[in-house]
Amino acid sequence: MIAGHRGARAVAPENTLVSMKAAANAGAKWIETDTQLCADLIPVIIHDKTVRRCTNGSGSVRHKTLDEIKQLDAGSWFSPEFAGETIPTLHELLAACDEYGLNLNLEIKVHYEEEAALQVQKTIETIKDYGFDPDRLILSSFSYNAVQQCLEQWPEVRRGLIIEDWVPDIDRLDENLKLYSIHLDHHLLNEKLAKEITDAGKVLQIWTMNDPKKIEKFSNWGVSTIITDDPALLIAATHK
Ligand code: G3P
Ligand code: MG
Repeated sequence: MIAGHRGARAVAPENTLVSMKAAANAGAKWIETDTQLCADLIPVIIHDKTVRRCTNGSGSVRHKTLDEIKQLDAGSWFSPEFAGETIPTLHELLAACDEYGLNLNLEIKVHYEEEAALQVQKTIETIKDYGFDPDRLILSSFSYNAVQQCLEQWPEVRRGLIIEDWVPDIDRLDENLKLYSIHLDHHLLNEKLAKEITDAGKVLQIWTMNDPKKIEKFSNWGVSTIITDDPALLIAATHK
């Protein structure tokens, strides 16, 4: 399975609604996207701690009101044709997933560990208020605290732990987090680790993998989902 990373960030400004649409148009059934809180405690869709890289503004997301965030241009930095795109709220993102028929791997991007519980609470509240189908949802995070909070606050929803630079002891992790999936940096993966994860009954996802030539190897190792910046390129390769 191919999932679009921050939508389809190879061809559209990451984490905007137009990026989600591009992923859907490419044939992706899943997207991965990042959410964090703004000053009004409303979950918005952006990766970095600050708005600098992906908008025409500056300053931290957490200290901006939604009104301030909505005034930013989140498209022009990528290309003038995307001028006027805005940072979506989580609510808007959920509506876009419904409109485009996308399943959602929602990464709870924790920039302030001490707020993980609050962030999970506001995220879950928003999803429930919207009424998004929980069967089309995976909540994921690099933050152990956040994943644990997901288990406490909404145990029915599937959880994924994102791992970048350490090798997990799967059984021990699972005891505490009751994971559905493990989302590994693909550089960390080898055949032995892939086997350990899949033998433990965990769904294995990798990120961010943009090389069509490697699809077969990872698929033979039991990887179920490849999170990629360019879903069109990888989907085309799987159809050859
Ligand atoms: O969810 C996988 C991947 O998105 C994690 O890394 O930095 O792109 O959010 P990052
Ligand atoms: Mg992410």
